[in-house]
Amino acid sequence: IGKQLISLPSCHSTNEFLAELAVKDTLFEGAVVITENQTKGKGQRGNSWYSEPGKNLTFSVYLRPKFLKPSQQFDLNRIVSLALYDLLKKMCPMAKVYIKWPNDLYVNKKKITGILIENNINQHSIIQSIVGIGLNVNQTDKLLETATSIKEISNVEYELNKVLSDVIMAIEHYYLMLRSNDARLIRQLYEEKLYKKDVVAYYEDKNGKFNGVIRGTEADGVLKIEDESGALRRYQFKEIHFLL
Ligand code: BTN
Repeated sequence: IGKQLISLPSCHSTNEFLAELAVKDTLFEGAVVITENQTKGKGQRGNSWYSEPGKNLTFSVYLRPKFLKPSQQFDLNRIVSLALYDLLKKMCPMAKVYIKWPNDLYVNKKKITGILIENNINQHSIIQSIVGIGLNVNQTDKLLETATSIKEISNVEYELNKVLSDVIMAIEHYYLMLRSNDARLIRQLYEEKLYKKDVVAYYEDKNGKFNGVIRGTEADGVLKIEDESGALRRYQFKEIHFLL
């Protein structure tokens, strides 16, 4: 991963840019597009992603996991989350790091990384995946109340290129693990790091608010929450909100 590296001074969205190249079929698996100044970053649920130019990492990785069935695509969310988890644990050893389902990284209860994975299944059932990552590294001004950065936590300013190569190595590590058929281990590691797993918390779904306990995820990424009556409720992305 990262052998083909396209570095742009400015770009609307690295996910969009990579998607355009993918259509033209000019990409090698593992290609990375990175920009210093992303002007129209996309977030989950149709949100936008703002990142102060020059301070953080905003990049996308192109993967074509021929060894995965479409029904297993959530394993990509798992490996990318685990890679960022390991990195953040290393860089902020004193902090509490969690993966908030499906793939947000939280440090000390604030969001530090946003991941937007956009998959396309081609006519041969091969997944073409664009893994977009926004990682707050050196930004300390203008952060949202609910967001943080590595520098804010550790007081250390990092060289972005070094952090990029560490993230890429970590993703490659888990990607190879997935490829060598260790999906079970990956699922287990992911579950261990899930925010609010096995503790009571407050949620909202389309029927209202309730107290529940996250019991883990199904293979395909569906989130399982046990409600007060002991029943298991299952959620797709966007069907459930975490309340304070
Ligand atoms: C989220 O809403 O949490 C996901 C944010 C993902 C942002 C990254 S930054 C690089 C890549 N390009 C985009 O347009 N979005 C992703």
